[in-house]
Amino acid sequence: MSDVPSLQLNDGNQIPQLGFGVFQIEPEDTAEAVTSALEIGYRHIDTAEMYENEREVGEGLRASGLGRDEVFITSKLNNGAHRPDAARRAFEGTLSALGFDHVDLFLIHWPLPTLYDGDYVSTWQVLEEFKADGRARSIGVSNFQTEHLERLAAESEVVPAVNQIELHPYFQNREVAAYGEEHGIATEAWSPIAQGDVLDDTDIGAIAEKLGRTPAQVVLRWHIQHGYIVFPKSVTPERIRENFELYDFELGADDMNTIDSLDRGEDGRRGPHPEQFAYAG
Ligand SMILES: NC(=O)c1ccc[n+]([C@@H]2O[C@H](COP(=O)([O-])OP(=O)(O)OC[C@H]3O[C@@H](n4cnc5c(N)ncnc54)[C@H](OP(=O)(O)O)[C@@H]3O)[C@@H](O)[C@H]2O)c1
Repeated sequence: MSDVPSLQLNDGNQIPQLGFGVFQIEPEDTAEAVTSALEIGYRHIDTAEMYENEREVGEGLRASGLGRDEVFITSKLNNGAHRPDAARRAFEGTLSALGFDHVDLFLIHWPLPTLYDGDYVSTWQVLEEFKADGRARSIGVSNFQTEHLERLAAESEVVPAVNQIELHPYFQNREVAAYGEEHGIATEAWSPIAQGDVLDDTDIGAIAEKLGRTPAQVVLRWHIQHGYIVFPKSVTPERIRENFELYDFELGADDMNTIDSLDRGEDGRRGPHPEQFAYAG
């Protein structure tokens, strides 16, 4: 797809390890941001129905002149659409908004264990249909805790290809990431730079200065070396470029250990806890 190395998912499909996230990009700014990212070389875009910019992601891709199969596109099932028929309608809405006949990856955005009688399993079984009919090349989940993944393993057929979770130096989400590694589920790290909160860290700053890199590049490189998939968001052209320049340097074991030691456990979490999050829109 591009110069960015790809990882192989558990269903055999390839995913570029570095992508571009579009959460909180206004619809009117999205097509331009996506086109700039694609011009720089990104070949993986992470959107969601919830972000209200799927249409503009499709427009940005079409404006880039790249073919549909040159770019990996992920979208996600919105929280109000967990019931099987609602999920089928929502997926059709996603494809229609994007203007494509398939996505590369489709995720359940949140497990919502306190809603819908705690039944995210029948929702997952509907995603299995989308994979079987080819409209989602791969399927996965987001914000699933280990107990949610264990339930899917016990009650359904397809193992999720990815679990997209909050993960950054201050919240390393180790138990969930380790479960993924053990079970062949790739970990995608959302808010990889904690929306900017980790960039003023003195240890990260010292590593960046030593290597002649920016703090954002150091943190994103740390994710890459851990094997996580990342898609930092930015609407700032220089940052979109900066965040792409990760493959011409490496962090040594000491620098990796230093960043590993910044984990604050639950205190470092910025977003909602998946067990309690119950917003169905
Ligand atoms: N599954 C989920 O529940 C979930 C939740 C959250 C996010 N996500 C996904 O993960 C993606 C990334 O997460 P995120 O958007 O929350 O946060 P993020 O990528 O960690 O951080 C984005 C913020 O950092 C700034 N920034 C970006 N690059 C920078 C750089 N090089 N130097 C300084 N500041 C920089 C951006 O500012 P500017 O834009 O102003 O440049 C923006 O404010 C999302 O876009 C979305 O695709 C998924």
